[in-house]
Amino acid sequence: MHTARRISVKILILLFTGAILWSCDRQKSTRGYDFIPDMVYSRAYDTYSKNPNFKDSMTMRVPVNGTVPRGFTPFRYTIDSASRKKAGLELVNPFLPTEEVLERGKLIFTTFCIGCHGASGKGDGQLYISGLYPLKPREISGVPTSKLTDGEIFHTITLGFGSMMAHGAQVRTEDRWKLVLYVRELQKEAQLARDTIPGGKTK
Ligand code: HEC
Repeated sequence: MHTARRISVKILILLFTGAILWSCDRQKSTRGYDFIPDMVYSRAYDTYSKNPNFKDSMTMRVPVNGTVPRGFTPFRYTIDSASRKKAGLELVNPFLPTEEVLERGKLIFTTFCIGCHGASGKGDGQLYISGLYPLKPREISGVPTSKLTDGEIFHTITLGFGSMMAHGAQVRTEDRWKLVLYVRELQKEAQLARDTIPGGKTK
């Protein structure tokens, strides 16, 4: 019994080595023999393979009109002040200014906005004061921008405003909302400074 088992193990090892050697090929440009090929060749059509089931013979199909990626919220506004007003009335910020949200907002601000608007949102960013960017960025920490709703600021960041270009393609939706809350923080700080500095009170 014991020897029989040993022999069968030896036979198995021999068969296995044989199978490996057999599947090797001196020609490196071919795969050689496929051992259990079921998983090598897919029965399904590959994304870029020809497909006889469709007239244009393409496997990858164009999505049906109006299809949106999962988790994507369509943004149906245009670049004009009437549309910005409308967005301001309709859109609601889904986030609350938690520490985590503001930290993310700050990171996005530092990456995309600080160059023009400056660290405190005064409009004194490096790009502007160095003369590289000639148009005066708005003082987004000031009173007029503080009066805009979250939706209006979101619209501004998404589609651009006047001479400011759009950031909808660079900054993802949730980050744009977090950015709005960070801009609010800058506005609060600026308001505090106006209130505490003598003669600094504006409106
Ligand atoms: C290349 C420079 C530049 C960058 C980068 C930039 N802005 Fe602006 N932004 C401007 C200018 C210039 C204006 C004023 C546009 C006008 O009045 O025509 C403006 C206007 C705005 C306004 C409108 C303020 C109002 O009172 O209507 C907001 C809000 C704003 N920017 C926020 C941001 C945020 C947030 C970012 C980062 C995603 C950003 N901007 C990036 C230049 C820039």
